[in-house]
Amino acid sequence: MFISFEGIDGSGKSTQARLLAEGLKALGHEVVHTREPGGSPGAEEIRSLVLEGDPDRWSAETEILLFTAARRDHLEKTIRPALAAGKVVICDRFADSTRVFQGVTRGDLQDKVNRLHDEMIGIEPDLTLLFDMDPAIGLARAKGRQTSEERFEDFGQDFQEKCRTAFLDLARAHDRFTVIDAGREIEIVAKEVLILVSKRLSS
Ligand code: ADP
Ligand code: TYD
Repeated sequence: MFISFEGIDGSGKSTQARLLAEGLKALGHEVVHTREPGGSPGAEEIRSLVLEGDPDRWSAETEILLFTAARRDHLEKTIRPALAAGKVVICDRFADSTRVFQGVTRGDLQDKVNRLHDEMIGIEPDLTLLFDMDPAIGLARAKGRQTSEERFEDFGQDFQEKCRTAFLDLARAHDRFTVIDAGREIEIVAKEVLILVSKRLSS
């Protein structure tokens, strides 16, 4: 089973992906917990190119190519082998992030994103959990982390508001999405996510 975690910056995806991986392992599942951009050595190199530096360092079009290149390597080296071995793959962001961050928020590039995706990636997760919350709180949480990977956070709150709306639009359009209220306490969200995924794995 291939599960992706999506949402605006600071919505708690990474925290929840880690807790779900631990929870599923405790229940006896074999789990690969991975992330984008990154998740394979080559893709991690591309990660620092896209996440560091000035917000206007790359155009949205160039980013589509860079994120898709990283995703293709991640798919070949990490995701496909894990799925072929029957493992549960938990991926912190996947193609929906490109649809939103590059496809919708800086011009209407969604068609280009989808065409490149169909040509070069060609798979969708079985389940996508959308961590939805107020962008002002998410951005404050994300800014509290103090890393050099702040390029997208520096686009600001209006940008994150547009991202939230675009994610919710995708969730309405595709059955594989479940929307999670990410504004609650960590343990409460984690419990809901573990119950939801365990049910799906046993059905
Ligand atoms: P994301 O991966 O979506 O950007 P993180 O999991 O890295 O989010 O969380 C961002 C910050 O917010 C971290 O410092 C984390 O400890 C904190 N955090 C995560 N979930 C919650 C929550 N439910 N309530 C309060 N703080 C949280
Ligand atoms: P991530 O490490 O998940 O950041 P955060 O923990 O703050 O949510 O992702 C870093 C940034 O990369 C995030 O702002 C979204 C952006 N991104 C894209 O713009 N397009 C993509 O395809 C992906 C995977 C991420």
